[in-house]
Amino acid sequence: MVDAATPTRPAVIDLRSDTVTTPTEAMRRAMASADVGDDVYGEDPTINALEERVAGLMGHEAGLFVPSGTMGNQIGMRLLAQPGEEVLCDADAHVVTYEMGAAAAVFGLSTRTVVSDGGRLDADRLIAQVRPRGDWHVTSTAAIAVENTHNRGGGIVQPLGELQKLWDWSRGAGVAVHLDGARLFNAHVASGVDLATYGGLADTASVCLSKGLGAPVGSVLVSSAERIAVARLWRKRLGGGMRQAGVLAAAGLYALDHHVDRLAEDQEHARLLAKRLGADPATVETNMVVLQDVPAAMLAEGAKAQGVLVSQVSATRVRLVTHLDVDRAGIDRAADVLASLLER
Ligand SMILES: Cc1ncc(COP(=O)(O)O)c(C=O)c1O
Repeated sequence: MVDAATPTRPAVIDLRSDTVTTPTEAMRRAMASADVGDDVYGEDPTINALEERVAGLMGHEAGLFVPSGTMGNQIGMRLLAQPGEEVLCDADAHVVTYEMGAAAAVFGLSTRTVVSDGGRLDADRLIAQVRPRGDWHVTSTAAIAVENTHNRGGGIVQPLGELQKLWDWSRGAGVAVHLDGARLFNAHVASGVDLATYGGLADTASVCLSKGLGAPVGSVLVSSAERIAVARLWRKRLGGGMRQAGVLAAAGLYALDHHVDRLAEDQEHARLLAKRLGADPATVETNMVVLQDVPAAMLAEGAKAQGVLVSQVSATRVRLVTHLDVDRAGIDRAADVLASLLER
């Protein structure tokens, strides 16, 4: 018998993004039995536990549960830069591509972008563009935002040496570092680098529970206790104070217990897809595969007609993202459909 909480869905293999996952039965049970309270009063025990847990994993003093990665990133950057100051980042960074201009529209921050090699962090290239504080002729760079893994870069893992170089330089320069770690758990599983090592190279970091980890909602912003107290005000100001949202935090805690190690499986599935579809498996670092030089519209539409959803990134590029709602059989089926459309 199908549990009443589980909507029955057509058998679509959805590889558009890892944001499309739906909570598992066990996750739903954890949500249903969560101990909750009013989080705006700081009294939701499950949210408090999640914030403490993620802060601990990241080696930071405190955490704040926020509804989305976008809110985590934007508040995180606002903590590091004042209105009129600049945040420097990669030209393809999520914070400037998909967050609807929030840094400017909501927070009064100026952003400046630097083109990278496919999203790969090059510390020297960013550092060369920094405009110093204290020069009243120029907009000063208060912070640099980095993204790990890099979404538009196809899920690449940022090189630890470059992150370290940027961090070491930033301490002497008085420039802060924000980490968009929407998929930091994928980076951690792929590289074997501790979350706390990544966390130790950022002043603020936002990690998502609703991507590969499979929770329905939520991100956690981590930083110093002092900064997180300010972040709490910003979250409330933005309408992100969520009362008995421990039911959501319970999904996050469940995901941390059960869905981290399995990210290796998504990575394996991505490599399989790459191999079957003629993409270089060496370019697959986590759970994304980018098919280059393909008739993207034909592929996306043709696959959709056969129950396989993919993302059309440009006229010639298609992105596939593996996640916990697509098992090995689904991967094989998707590979068959796409390979036949590509005649590979
Ligand atoms: C790299 C990256 N950062 C931030 C976000 C924003 O997360 P949300 O959709 O929860 O706002 C995403 C969403 O896909 C992302 O890919």
